[in-house]
Amino acid sequence: MDVASFQVQLDDLGARAMAAIAAAASPEGLDAVESGILGRKGELRALLAGIGTLSAQDRPRVGALANPVREAVEAALAERRAGLEAAALEERLRVEGEDVTMPGRPAWRGSLHPLPETEREIARIFGQFGFVVVESPEVESDELNFQALNIPADHPARDLWDTIYVERPASAAGPGAEDGQHLLLRTHTSPGQIRAMRQASPPIRILTPGRCYRYEAVDASHGFEFFQVEGLMVDEGTSMAHLRGLLDAFAHAMFGADRPTRFRPGYYPFTEPSVAFDIGCVVCEGQGCPACKRTGWMTILGAGMVHPVVLRNGGIDPERYQGFAFGMGTDRIAMLRYAITDIRAFLANDLRFLERL
Ligand code: DAH
Repeated sequence: MDVASFQVQLDDLGARAMAAIAAAASPEGLDAVESGILGRKGELRALLAGIGTLSAQDRPRVGALANPVREAVEAALAERRAGLEAAALEERLRVEGEDVTMPGRPAWRGSLHPLPETEREIARIFGQFGFVVVESPEVESDELNFQALNIPADHPARDLWDTIYVERPASAAGPGAEDGQHLLLRTHTSPGQIRAMRQASPPIRILTPGRCYRYEAVDASHGFEFFQVEGLMVDEGTSMAHLRGLLDAFAHAMFGADRPTRFRPGYYPFTEPSVAFDIGCVVCEGQGCPACKRTGWMTILGAGMVHPVVLRNGGIDPERYQGFAFGMGTDRIAMLRYAITDIRAFLANDLRFLERL
C-alpha cells in the first residue's frame, strides 16, 4: 500500500458514504450508515488499520488525508439527520397536529328549566303585591289535603282529586300519625293555605308553589306529577274585587297588557263563591281555535273567597277576617307561555326540547 492508493480508497469510501447518507430515509437508517463507516468496526477504521504497512513518514500523511473525509462524512450525517428530523416533525404535525383554522367549540351555557323559570316569574309578579313564597310538604295528611279544606271523608267532592295514598308503618311519626290518618301525595298545593294560616296571623299574603300528584291517566295535558302555585290572602275587608284586580294584574304581566280576562262561576269546596279565571286564547287571540275548544277563552286558574269553615280550620275568625285564594297549574302557564303542546315534555329530560325554548 502506498499513499496514493490510500487516497483512492479514501475517496471511494467518502463517495459511497455520501451516497448512502443521501439515500438514508430515516434517522435509524443514518445510524446504520454512521456505524458502518465511522464506527469501531466501520470501514474507515478497517482502512486505517492498513496504515501499519506504510513507512514512518507516510503514516501521518495518510492520517492527514483521512481527517477531512471523516469530517465531511460527519457533517453530512449531521445535516441529513437534522433534515430527516424536521421532515418527521412536519409529518407528525400534519397527521396529529391541531388545525388552528377550525372553529372553536362554544362553551355550553345552561339555563333554568321552563317550570322553575315560570314559577319564579309567577312569584315575581305576585311579589310586587306583597306575596311571599312559603314551602309546604309533598307528602301530606288526609286532614290538611282534604278535611281542613272542607272536603270531608266520603264526600263526593273527593272525586275531583284522584289521590295517591302512601302506606306507612304503624309506628311512623309525622303529620296525622297520632290519629292513624292516611298519608298521601298532595293532590294540590291548597293544604299550604291551612299550614300558613295556622302558622301566622293576618294579614297573610303567601304563595306556595310545588309539585303535586294525582292518580291520572297520563296524556298530553295530564301528568300524574305536575306543578301548582297556590295563593292566599287573608285580611280585614278583603273582597272579590281585590281578587279580580290582582288576577287581572297577573294575567296582564304574564300574557300581555291587552289580554282580556273574565270570571266564570266555579265550584271548589274550600271557596265560596268560587270562580274559574279565564284569559283570551293566546293561540287565536279570541277567534276560536282547537286550543281553546273554539270558545276564544282559556281557563288558567281556580279561585274564590276562602270558605268560613276553612278560615276557622286555619284558626282564623271568619267574623273578623276574609280571604281569597287561587290555585294555578304551573305546567299550564308554562305551556301557554312557550307554546308547548305536551305536558309530558317537561319531565322527559330531553335536552333537545329544553334547548329549543
Ligand atoms: N286546589 C285546586 C285544584 O287543585 C285549585 C284551586 C282552586 C285552589 C280554587 C284554590 C282555589 O286556592 O281557591 O284544582
